[in-house]
Amino acid sequence: MTTNVRALAAQILTPLLKNKGSLNTQYAAIERRCPEKDRGLLRELCYGTMRYHPQLNAIIKLLQNRPFKFRDIDIKAIVLVGLYQLKHTRIPAHASISESVEACKELDKAWAGKVVNALLRRFQREQEELEDYLKDDDSYQFNHPEWMIAKLRNNWPEHWQEILTVNNEQAPLTLRVNQRSTNREEYLQQLTPIIAAEATQFSDQGIKLAESVNIETLPGYSVGAFSVQDEAAQLSADLLDLQPEQRVLDACAAPGGKLCHILEHEPKLAQVDAVELEQKRISRVEENLERLRLKANLKVADAATQTWWDGTDYDRILLDAPCSATGVIRRNPDIKYLRQGEDIHETAKLQRAILDNCWSMLKPGGKLLYATCSIFPQENGRLIKQFVTQTANAKHLPIKAEWGIEQEYGRQLFPQSNGHDGFYYALLEKTE
Ligand SMILES: C[S@@+](CC[C@H](N)C(=O)[O-])C[C@H]1O[C@@H](n2cnc3c(N)ncnc32)[C@H](O)[C@@H]1O
Repeated sequence: MTTNVRALAAQILTPLLKNKGSLNTQYAAIERRCPEKDRGLLRELCYGTMRYHPQLNAIIKLLQNRPFKFRDIDIKAIVLVGLYQLKHTRIPAHASISESVEACKELDKAWAGKVVNALLRRFQREQEELEDYLKDDDSYQFNHPEWMIAKLRNNWPEHWQEILTVNNEQAPLTLRVNQRSTNREEYLQQLTPIIAAEATQFSDQGIKLAESVNIETLPGYSVGAFSVQDEAAQLSADLLDLQPEQRVLDACAAPGGKLCHILEHEPKLAQVDAVELEQKRISRVEENLERLRLKANLKVADAATQTWWDGTDYDRILLDAPCSATGVIRRNPDIKYLRQGEDIHETAKLQRAILDNCWSMLKPGGKLLYATCSIFPQENGRLIKQFVTQTANAKHLPIKAEWGIEQEYGRQLFPQSNGHDGFYYALLEKTE
């Protein structure tokens, strides 16, 4: 089994390039094979390569006469990782190239060493001409797939360029302090002698770290003093206006970030049901609840059905819907590669089906908070507008806030440089 970091990176990226799995899951499956001292490099090579995939892929297309065969996509992965190192890291070029050639041997494809060497050396020699040739190519310039650029330009004529720029950056690591065990000021005092950190702007419980760290080494991790959660995601618990003795449903719960926040926020809820479709994601919810010493009724089920429901209406429903995740591209850069324009239509249909179903389980006078980490109106404001106009007992409650941009229906947040992710919230009330 190889421990060559470039070969491991190729093993992580190859299934993705064949449209299987996600970067987070592939990375988690292979990381433990990497010597601990090299894990930082492995992460940077994998996430960096996917972050710059649109550009790196455009360069490969220019360098090659014929595309790689499907069975040699692992070699394409080595070339992409090699180009990433040459273009975006300070690793000496000779080391990047020789390690890439070595990686071919580790993957039992020593024959490919020559091809990889030739492609990377040609890039080194001709970088300026190649980049000049690509300068009018939007996908290269903005480092996003063409369909995404066109859709954002059309949806957000005043914001699309800023969104694309921020999407290419790295997101900060943000914590949510557990208000049941400490408060932000107290925790910041414990934290700042160890790492530079500051309070977030919009969430009362958020702390933004100046750099990435292994969170398990931070004070109070094992006793649940904090959770990792983006600032935009931290806004949901307040918006739900939770009161003691209420029955609450979290309709799409895994990995449980918002569920745990709800339970921390209002300890006296009568019942909290949490539904999640995917069995394999439920263990993450269980781990989070256990670490934070919280309790909820977990149900592995489809939130677009009622087979799991006990028939008593809910006072509050959080519908954090499955979505294109285009607001969190900084954290999941493989989204640029994996999503296709036509997927969004199907996603919006699923969102509407879950929303319709959840609505029928909401008490008259109750509130439903619809959320996505998408920046497309098709999954957000447009979907909610259509729902409200087609549903007699649905009332839209405008959200007054300092964050995001007010829409006709709901509020849209765009990803901010060194700030929160892209997110959308809409609050609805069921009339009596
Ligand atoms: C955006 S994530 C939820 C994040 C979660 N609320 C949190 O804060 O940690 C959406 C979740 O919905 C789940 N999901 C997708 N389709 C579903 C369905 N039909 N019913 C229930 N859950 C579903 C996905 O597996 C995913 O875990």
